[in-house]
Amino acid sequence: MSIITIDGPAGAGKSTVSKELARRLGFTYLDTGAMYRAAAWFARSRGIDCRDSKAVSSICPDLDIHFEDQRIHVNGKDVSHLIRTQEMDALSSAISRIPELREQLTRIQREMGRKGNLVAEGRDMGTVVFPDADFKFFLMASAEERAMRRKIQLDSSGEKVLYENILLQIKARDRADANRSVAPLRPAPDAEIIDSTGLDVDDVIGIMLAKIKGK
Ligand code: DC
Repeated sequence: MSIITIDGPAGAGKSTVSKELARRLGFTYLDTGAMYRAAAWFARSRGIDCRDSKAVSSICPDLDIHFEDQRIHVNGKDVSHLIRTQEMDALSSAISRIPELREQLTRIQREMGRKGNLVAEGRDMGTVVFPDADFKFFLMASAEERAMRRKIQLDSSGEKVLYENILLQIKARDRADANRSVAPLRPAPDAEIIDSTGLDVDDVIGIMLAKIKGK
């Protein structure tokens, strides 16, 4: 019935590592960033400004977000691809500052955690959502390395964005995520911090598995 949390800034390699760790352990993978993105997509589809806390709070009771075979659905619509755009990067960051929305998503996430054997990836998994998790990791990498990884990802999906602009955006998002008043991005006191700069996915997973199996 283990819960493993993996938090950290955008582009530190959390998704690839979390997915692969879950696969190797036979655990369920929970991508909570996708939930914030899906909420932002839903708000926008209703013409709601993601910074307007009153308007966003009003849609919280209607939000039905769930996963089916690793695909994310919001109120019956599969938005798995629609949430992976630059626009949704910005809107999800804005909507994630609204406490009522965080409470709603935290409730859904804990519900998923009840079944156990979960690798939960996000920003506040070890600090807020699963403070009693069995293993907590905080994955980071230099802003430059994260910008380069994101550039390669965007290039391969056909989006042409300058490296310098990506770097600026990453630094701005780090600041926003770390300085917001609710659930700011920071490692839980009992999290193991892993700097993935210069490491590949297997290296990082090796560090995590050593910790998990050593206990
Ligand atoms: O990991 P990501 O880029 O898909 O996350 C999208 C946004 O959601 C990002 O700005 C941070 C926010 N987020 C959050 O506030 N808490 C989480 N547990 C996961 C993501």
